[in-house]
Formats: sequence, C-alpha cells, structure tokens
Amino acid sequence: MRPCRRPTSARRWPVLTVENLSAGYGPVRALDSVSLSAAPGEITAVLGANGAGKTTLLRTISGLVRPSGGRISLAGRDLTGVSTEDLPALGLAHVPEGRGVLAELTVEENLRLGALGARGRATADGLRRIYDLFPVLADRRNGLAHVLSGGERQMLVIGRALLSRPKVLLLDEPSLGLAPRIVAQIFDLLRALVRDDGLAVVLVEQNARSALSIADHGVVLNLGEVVVRRDAATLVADDDLRHAYLGF
Ligand SMILES: Nc1ncnc2c1ncn2[C@@H]1O[C@H](COP(=O)(O)OP(=O)(O)O)[C@@H](O)[C@H]1O
Ligand SMILES: [Mg+2]
Repeated sequence: MRPCRRPTSARRWPVLTVENLSAGYGPVRALDSVSLSAAPGEITAVLGANGAGKTTLLRTISGLVRPSGGRISLAGRDLTGVSTEDLPALGLAHVPEGRGVLAELTVEENLRLGALGARGRATADGLRRIYDLFPVLADRRNGLAHVLSGGERQMLVIGRALLSRPKVLLLDEPSLGLAPRIVAQIFDLLRALVRDDGLAVVLVEQNARSALSIADHGVVLNLGEVVVRRDAATLVADDDLRHAYLGF
C-alpha cells in the first residue's frame, strides 16, 4: 500500500456522480443501473473482465453512447443532453482505449489539439506543465508521434487530455499491452498528479492489481452491473473478494 492513499473517512465531495445509469446497443444491455462517483484528489478504479461494460460506462458518461436511463452530473450540472464536444469546456476529459494519436503530427502538435475547445489553452505554461510531468515528451516534442513507444503514446494521450485542464479524467485501460515497469511508471505519475492537482480520476482497468495499487476506491462490474464496491485497500486485503472477482 502506498502511504499517500487517504483513509476512506476523508472522502471528499464528489465532482462526478453517476446514478442508476443504464445503456445498451440494440438488444444488448451493456450497463444495468450503475452508480458511482469520483471526488477531487481521488482515483476510482472500475474493474471487471472483458465485456463487463467498463468502456460503455466511460462512453456513456462522455456522451458517446446514449443512456436508456439514469443520471450523470458533473460539478452539480446535469450532463444529460450535453453534447460530447461541449464536455471539455465543462471539465471532463476522456482518454479512450487504444492510445489514438495523429501519427503524422509532432508530439507537441498532438498535445496542442488537447486544448481545442477546452477550458485551458495550449499556453507555454500549459505545455511546460505537461513536459514537467512527462519529460520524455519534452525530449521528443518535435518528433513525429508515430515513432513513440506504447508507453510514450500513453503519456501523450494523457498529456493531451490534461491540457484541457479537466476536473475529471476518464481513463480507459491505460495499461493494456504495456510492460509492468512502464505501467508502474505511468501509474506513479498519475497518483502524484491526482494528489497535487486535485484531479478526480475514473480509471478503467482489467489489470486490477496495478489499478488498486494507486486507487482510493474500487468498483467491480460484471455483465453491466456493479457487483462489488469497496475502498481499494479493503478490496485488496479481502482474499475472498479478490479471488472471486479480480483473479489475483
Ligand atoms: N458497439 C457495440 N455494439 C454492440 N455491442 C457492443 C458494442 N460495444 C460493446 N458491446 C457489448 O457491450 C458489452 C460491454 O462491452 P464493453 O463496454 O466494451 O466492455 P469492457 O470495456 O468491460 O470490455 C459487451 O457485451 C460487448 O460485446
Ligand atoms: Mg473496454
């Protein structure tokens, strides 16, 4: 356990609240009355097997999938009917699975795209902040994005999202396909960022062990439903829950 994790009793007021959210694709019900929240300075890990509904949850929060029921609110504002393009300006950033970058643009050009339409601008200060956080991106700022390694690409898409100065960051499987050492490096940075900047993070991961090592709370989805909700330390310490739902 890392010492910087705060006890549950210190839980802050949530900035993102999802209540009884349901969504699907035609006859497929992918989310069934899911509730969760994310508070400033905290990481909420959303865990579960392939097909559990994790990506659908993030896509529904960011307006890419239309909910069939429930409510989403960001800093007290109802997000129902708000279009995806307007969300960065309201403080919501979504890093989808797959680390999509514009391969023929430079690292810095990719970063600048993150500030379009958002609360922040790609100011020298904003860029410096990202380069301080991810020095490897500073080293490669004028290089084309397609030469980056998987870990560097992951840093680039996170950095791009941070340039919009979000209150809430949704991250979909950032560890997928990366070496454990790189995952540890990215997760350590994420933990420090959350602690220092008071960002609220919803971290979707199949890699439960790594995610829970930096998370404050854990929510396990199974077939679109929340089956477990605990603070992260409790979830890790409970052998039965861990074996039953997390596979480690
Ligand atoms: N675009 C889609 N069209 C139809 N079904 C989908 C689509 N995307 C996901 N699904 C289905 O929704 C369920 C949840 O998928 P998803 O949210 O991608 O899960 P996870 O991210 O946890 O792997 C699965 O049954 C999946 O097959
Ligand atoms: Mg997914």
